[in-house]
Formats: sequence, structure tokens, C-alpha cells
Amino acid sequence: MILVTGATGKVGGQVAAQLVAAGAAVRALVRDPATAVLPDAVEAARGDQVDVVRGDLADPASLTAALTGEVEAVFLVWPLGGPTGAAEVVTTLAAHTSRIVYLSTRGVPEDDEAELAEDILGTHAALERLVRGSGAEWTLLRPGGFAGNTLLWAPQVRAGGPVRTAHPQAARPVVHEADIATVAVRALLTDDLLGEAPELTGPELLTQAEQIAIVSEVLGRPLAVEKLSRSEARADLLAGGVPPAYADGILDAHAAMETDPETVVPGGAELLGRPPLTYRQWVTDHVADFR
Ligand SMILES: NC(=O)c1ccc[n+]([C@@H]2O[C@H](COP(=O)([O-])OP(=O)(O)OC[C@H]3O[C@@H](n4cnc5c(N)ncnc54)[C@H](OP(=O)(O)O)[C@@H]3O)[C@@H](O)[C@H]2O)c1
Repeated sequence: MILVTGATGKVGGQVAAQLVAAGAAVRALVRDPATAVLPDAVEAARGDQVDVVRGDLADPASLTAALTGEVEAVFLVWPLGGPTGAAEVVTTLAAHTSRIVYLSTRGVPEDDEAELAEDILGTHAALERLVRGSGAEWTLLRPGGFAGNTLLWAPQVRAGGPVRTAHPQAARPVVHEADIATVAVRALLTDDLLGEAPELTGPELLTQAEQIAIVSEVLGRPLAVEKLSRSEARADLLAGGVPPAYADGILDAHAAMETDPETVVPGGAELLGRPPLTYRQWVTDHVADFR
């Protein structure tokens, strides 16, 4: 039995779906089982191979029901800008299961003595320290920017454009969430990645303008790009659900990527056992969101 947190989200949903495909028993922790929207393959296995239980990472006591029985490993997604009691959550998980696979991020400070900022990297570094110190077996996944971030453009694309961004020339090798999930499943079901912190990106460096051009090509219709001011872009991020404390960090990172692009991490094919998926593939997989 594998406990999957964030199973209604971009990565956790893929992890649950790939675990189901691999024949594993899955327990999906969701805040509201009645309204939780899970991937079709996970929903189809509900009540059989998939058990859906209520639990909230903001309330460690609520995790007990999810951890009863033989939970061998946990896939942990930490929702940014949400819960504060990470130490108690990790302690609770480690008391009931022998392995934690944590969804961290590329770029976390490696220095264990470093003082941590209250930003995205600082939050993940703090969680990494807790997971490594928990006594459980661990793997830390350190993906770069998700292709799914570009869903922020979906309402604009559905409306016919233009697509609004402050940094059309910001370049990064966005990663398909299915690839992150494939590495997560390997870390959950095999011992291959124990005690490791693999980085993962997509296979090609693309500017945001190039990503929008790919969306346009896959949809078969033109899409204009409108350059935004920073304050306009910040307002768009907040409207898209990004916590205010993180919006500035994201925009700073995008500004930096105009002159100093994120690099492609080599070795993706070895990690995945197949080539990493392209952004074009991701758009094809999500075309319904843009139509
Ligand atoms: N976006 C990127 O480019 C990027 C890159 C590297 C790392 N990351 C990291 O990836 C993580 C986000 O992963 P994601 O994109 O899969 O997330 P996501 O799609 O935003 O989904 C977040 C998940 O967390 C759940 N959740 C929210 N608050 C919760 C709570 N209090 N208790 C239990 N579950 C809760 C949500 O469930 P509900 O259905 O209940 O809301 C949802 O399933 C973050 O830690 C982020 O820093 C992101």
C-alpha cells in the first residue's frame, strides 16, 4: 500500500495513476473525498485497488486514519503557502511507514547549516531536512519548472489570446509531470533511488514565446503574445491561485531566465528508462484544457 498525498494535483495525480498501472495498492489522501477530482484511471480503480481517505496536512492528527494498516511508503507533496506544521507531519508519517518520497524542487540550498528563507526554496529545503532526518528511507525529487505551470495561460488561449506574460524570453526546459511521476514510482516501488535526490527537467530549452508557439501549432490556430508589466503579471499569478508570498520569487526567477536560462539536466533518459517527454507532448496530452 502506497499513500499518495496531492493525488488531486498535477504530480500526485500522475503518481497515483502510474502506481495503479503498475498494479500497486494506492491510498489517496484528499481533503474532501466527496469532491476530490482524481485522474480517470485512479477513479476507475476506486474501492478496489484505490482507497480514498480524508486527511489534511494542516492537521497532522487527521493523518492517522490514512496511516492505519500496512502503508509501506508515502509520496509527499507539500502544498506551498498552506500548512505550517511540517515537522509534526513528517514525524507522523515516519512513525507509520518506512519510506518517504518527497516532491522537492531543483535549486534547493545544499548547505545544511544555511539559514533558510521563507520562500519556495527555503520551504523545500526545510522539508528535505525533515525527511532526511526522519529515520525513514527517503528519496528527494528535484524537478525543474513544471510544464503544468503553463495552464495559467489556458483561459487566455481558450478565449483566443493574446497570451499574457511579463517574460516571453525567459527560457527553461519545462518538465512533463508524468516524467516526475515515473521517477517517483521508481523511488516508491524499487530501491534504485534510496538516499538520492535526482534532478529532472524536460529535454529542451524553450522560451515562453516558444512554448506559446507550440501551443498554437498543436491547436492549429494563431496565438499572439502580449508582454505584461511586472505588476500586471503579479496580479495574473495571484488570480491563478499562486500565494502572494511566492509570486515575487516566481517573477524574479523568470526575469533571471531571460539572460541566464535554466539548463537541461542530463541523464533524464537513464533516470526514466526512456527519453524525457517534450513540451509538445505535454500540450498534446492537455489539449482539452486549451480548447
Ligand atoms: N510548479 C513548479 O514548477 C514546481 C517545480 C518544482 C517543484 N514544485 C513543487 O511541487 C509541489 C506542487 O505539486 P503539484 O503541482 O502536483 O501540486 P498542485 O497541482 O498544485 O496540487 C496541490 C495538491 O496539494 C493538495 N493540498 C493542498 N493543500 C493541502 C492540505 N492542507 N492537505 C492535504 N493536501 C493538500 C491539493 O489537494 P486539494 O484537492 O485538497 O486542493 C492538491 O492535490 C509544490 O511543493 C511545489 O513547490 C513545483
